[in-house]
Amino acid sequence: MSVLGKGSGSSVKMPVITIDGPSGSGKGTICQKLAEALGFHLLDSGALYRLTAVAATEQGVDLADQAAVAQVARQLDVQFKSSEKGVLAFLSGRDVSRDIRLEEAGMGASKVAAYPEVREALLDRQRAFEQQPGLIADGRDMGTTVFPDAPVKIFLTASAEERARRRYQQLLERGESANLRALLEDIQARDTKDMQRSASPLKPAEDVIEVDSTSMPIEEVLNLVLKVVSERIKLSV
Ligand code: DC
Repeated sequence: MSVLGKGSGSSVKMPVITIDGPSGSGKGTICQKLAEALGFHLLDSGALYRLTAVAATEQGVDLADQAAVAQVARQLDVQFKSSEKGVLAFLSGRDVSRDIRLEEAGMGASKVAAYPEVREALLDRQRAFEQQPGLIADGRDMGTTVFPDAPVKIFLTASAEERARRRYQQLLERGESANLRALLEDIQARDTKDMQRSASPLKPAEDVIEVDSTSMPIEEVLNLVLKVVSERIKLSV
């Protein structure tokens, strides 16, 4: 797997696989495993919104000020690097991989992601990830807005209860305390926000394949997606 922070793109058509869906649907894990299996680049678009929120907060920018946050997004000095621990995110050379995963960064990201100006500011940066031999694009609007011509589009879902349970398990495994009910309420609030905003809301593209992972182990989801990919695109892997 490789990740790119910058890139010029190319006019040669290449395989882009978009995986959209709500928080906790397993997108992150599936995308990382897919990128490894296929040797493709990986775009974690949610990380860009998280990085924007973290950078804005660090610079003392009010997250309610759309124009100022969009300016932060345009000037974001970000780099992604593959490592044994997964993909690391750097802001002006500083490793902020942990900071962007904090609950506060997630809430901030959800807020700034609703701004059309911020989405516009991050569009070219996301499209620059489209490089040979192919790309796995993880997000909410990858198939609808960022890569509408992608040959494979997946919409990965799971019930809100199951997503809350997965998050709960994840927090306990990390030794953090968690409240299942509060997590469920948080997930439901974030879903509503992501689906009801007017700018590039979370919704399945028309030509999307929907996969409900509520009662599917991750390996099963991965195998299903790999099967779809091999049916849709000719891969030299
Ligand atoms: O996938 P995530 O939890 O890292 O995303 C963080 C926030 O960013 C989430 O509220 C949805 C938003 N987001 C978005 O609006 N569009 C994307 N392509 C990716 C994420």
